[in-house]
Amino acid sequence: MAPPQPVPPVFHHHYSHFRPPLSISQPLTLLLLLLHSPSSISSPPPHYQMGLSMVGMGGSVMLVLVAQLLMAGLVGVCEGQGLVPGVVIFGDSVVDVGNNNNRLTLVKANFPPYGRDFVDHAPTGRFCNGKLATDFTVENLGFTSYPPAYLSEQATGKNLLSGANFASGGAGYLDSTSTLYGAISLNQQLRNYKDYQSKVERIAGKANATALFAGSIYVVSAGASDYVQNYYINPVLNRAYTPDQFADLVLQNFNTFSEALYNLGARRIGVTSLPPLGCLPAVITLFGAGRNDCIARLNNDAIVFNKKLKAAGQALKRSHPKLKLVVFDIYNPLLDLIAHPENYGFFEARKACCGTGTIETSLLCNTRSPGTCANATGYVFWDSAHPTEAANQVLSDAILAQGIDLIS
Ligand SMILES: *[C@@H]1O[C@H](CO)[C@@H](O)[C@H](O)[C@H]1NC(C)=O
Ligand SMILES: *[C@@H]1O[C@H](CO)[C@@H](O)[C@H](O)[C@H]1NC(C)=O
Repeated sequence: MAPPQPVPPVFHHHYSHFRPPLSISQPLTLLLLLLHSPSSISSPPPHYQMGLSMVGMGGSVMLVLVAQLLMAGLVGVCEGQGLVPGVVIFGDSVVDVGNNNNRLTLVKANFPPYGRDFVDHAPTGRFCNGKLATDFTVENLGFTSYPPAYLSEQATGKNLLSGANFASGGAGYLDSTSTLYGAISLNQQLRNYKDYQSKVERIAGKANATALFAGSIYVVSAGASDYVQNYYINPVLNRAYTPDQFADLVLQNFNTFSEALYNLGARRIGVTSLPPLGCLPAVITLFGAGRNDCIARLNNDAIVFNKKLKAAGQALKRSHPKLKLVVFDIYNPLLDLIAHPENYGFFEARKACCGTGTIETSLLCNTRSPGTCANATGYVFWDSAHPTEAANQVLSDAILAQGIDLIS
């Protein structure tokens, strides 16, 4: 009889696909030094010149330098421990990578021209021409593959051991938002995550799984659909709640969701703020009364929500001392990009690339949409509700700078 086979070293096998992992303390000291020392930016060592010249966009130079350091693995390498072991993603179309592909919903992006600048020029279900901001973030953390859409065929075996993506286009913090669009509600996303946890425990063993769940970064991106695709067009909600009250209602659901996630073992949560809702091309077209400017009233609603979100995050941290939670401000970076596209090498911030650029998203953005731009690089928006890959890179730079607390 053959001798018993050794248990396959699942995690080791898994990590062999990764860049050299980094130890925690050294890179952070370095990161913090970089972030606080302008002189190290103005006179970079020759080694980093290439990375710097590639971007040359004001404040993001520093971040690129940080990212380059991380990617180059120049900061202390130690075996077996990554900067974080995994990334788990919840939310809406801003972070969905294909969970809606086989669903009965109109909120889909698994057809051209979506994905035309992505790997293999193939649509995946990402609402973008290329990479999402979270794709860049995952790369910045040292991963060489993206967490798979949990409802895709790729979500199996060792692919599950560095996280998974549960997001669904059209989802909101309110179940009613998700229901309206046939999206997977955040509550269902949490149930899918529980299912994921038991799979990982079976594959990697309970102890390894628990370490993965506690060490992973959890990204939550939602809220925009609750406003744009529900509150603003739903007279029942609109009459029942002032913007301030509506923000409170949405945040109640954020709190419940975050508590549940914490109870499932999450200890590093990054939640995105609302973007400047009043500057989304479709929103200007629908609610802008014929004008071509950002709508101040809607941007104000986002500001009100974001302020409350920040307070809610702080309260969650106070009641859970072991929880690291960061509210990523994407409002200001995106607003600055829209107000001063030329500062970032962009030239178009009102019209999106796809179709006329004023209204098309999802099914309306397809190969027969007339007017789609040939090169999306200079556009802030890919479709009328979602940024281009180029804009997502700018956003991920902002996220990287704000996320230091999550990896410390
Ligand atoms: C847990 O991870 C270690 C490596 O960190 C590995 O040697 C071990 O086989 C894993 N346990 C199981 C049950 O896969
Ligand atoms: C789009 O334009 C950018 C900058 O002008 C250029 O670097 C890039 O190669 C172009 N992409 C395509 C697909 O033509």
